[in-house]
Amino acid sequence: MVCVNEKNILISDEEVKAIDADWSSWGDTVHYSKDPKVFAGCDGSYMYDSNDTPYLDLQMMYSSCNFGYKNQRIINAVIDQMNTLPQLTPKFLQQYKSLLSYKMAKLIEKRFHEKGRIHFNVGGAQANEDAIKVVRNYTHRNGLFAFQGGYHGRTIATTCVTSSFRYREKYGHFGDRANFVPFPYCFRCPYGMKCDSCNHFCVKQFARQFESEYKAIYDPKTKECEYKAFIAEPILGTGGYIDAPKWYFKELKEILDSYGIMLVIDEVQMGMYRTGKLWAIENYDVVPDIMTFAKSVTNGMNPLAGFWAKEKFIAPDVFKPGSAHSTYCSNPIGVRAAHEVMTIVEEEQNDFEVEIPKKSQRFMNGLNYLKSKYKQVGDVGGIGFALRIELTQEDGYTPNRDLCDAMQEEGLKGNLTYNGKKCGLVLNNGGFYKNIITLVPQLYITNEEIDMAIDLLDQLLGRLTK
Ligand SMILES: Cc1ncc(COP(=O)(O)O)c(C=O)c1O
Repeated sequence: MVCVNEKNILISDEEVKAIDADWSSWGDTVHYSKDPKVFAGCDGSYMYDSNDTPYLDLQMMYSSCNFGYKNQRIINAVIDQMNTLPQLTPKFLQQYKSLLSYKMAKLIEKRFHEKGRIHFNVGGAQANEDAIKVVRNYTHRNGLFAFQGGYHGRTIATTCVTSSFRYREKYGHFGDRANFVPFPYCFRCPYGMKCDSCNHFCVKQFARQFESEYKAIYDPKTKECEYKAFIAEPILGTGGYIDAPKWYFKELKEILDSYGIMLVIDEVQMGMYRTGKLWAIENYDVVPDIMTFAKSVTNGMNPLAGFWAKEKFIAPDVFKPGSAHSTYCSNPIGVRAAHEVMTIVEEEQNDFEVEIPKKSQRFMNGLNYLKSKYKQVGDVGGIGFALRIELTQEDGYTPNRDLCDAMQEEGLKGNLTYNGKKCGLVLNNGGFYKNIITLVPQLYITNEEIDMAIDLLDQLLGRLTK
């Protein structure tokens, strides 16, 4: 654990909270918590409070810092950019934007065997909005399918394809509300089936909607569907790190293809090796038509997001100049951070593909140990470093949100111990019942830190399940 000594602390934690309470909007997510936590430093896998107590971080800025806090290579690239061309109107070109588009498009081409192009914007929600524009531009229709439990951002249009009504409740619609399809969440099958005998009921149920015009979405005479794209996270992020069964997306894509429906994959949270593959959809052997990215593409340094689309959807005569734009859409600092991240990906892709599954297995062994020790651990699972602990009552099934909330609060007190040293644990939750601890370590987490994570989770469960 590294000590962060060179902090520049101007005001106490209590003052930070008092000023925020009076002068900052409460409309963001800080005040979900009654007593928001203040942090003063970060490094590698750790956050540090103002007393320099280290907190092992298992959420990494909601999966935005896959390459570790304060990754020196990326910092150096950003500093170099700040000293050369930190600002540039987006109507002009600069070398790193072209180099980044080329690197990303080539890395994607290698995986999907498709020529495509990259379009940039500044955040995950904006990238999804732009992807929706591509769909509308190409198909001249507004309707989209999306998953129950999916999350695509909180701008007005992306809340229309995010299933939670609470995000739209006060703001109405600025786009057509998606047709929400049940996600194949096998531990709690939305159709009440059992995995070994379901016979892929969920995907068949989706296909049945095209059997007759009276199912309300399809005209068999014209072969036109009211919904021209399906926007989907390959693994639910905010929905609780739920991974679909291996066969799911392939079967879904076959149905979509046969009715001319595009697949838009949202890799904002699960991309950038979170699941042991550069893009999570690679785990399902499916090629999307459009794919959005954000978060770890800059390792959380400066906002940059965007999408890749197959050439036919984004060719210059189709998605014409000015179709989507923001003053910050290819800001040079974000672009340079992303360029460095993609260079790391090019250099280390083989190592990631070997190391992440090995370390993931070590993590899973620890999670299975916790499951065998605590009745309140109903299920554990995930792929790569997108792991989850589903907390339940002692029956192993009824969701236990209180325990999930309590574990997060207790971890932030910073009074756990590891190897005789005081420390804390930063966790995040998700899931349909907010009872899932989502485990999102940095990709370079060491074996020792994985053992530490299991030990700290064990300490929390021990304290809170007595
Ligand atoms: C899958 C997914 N899509 C989109 C978003 C929205 O990204 P942003 O918060 O950068 O707007 C998020 C954010 O958590 C996400 O997890």
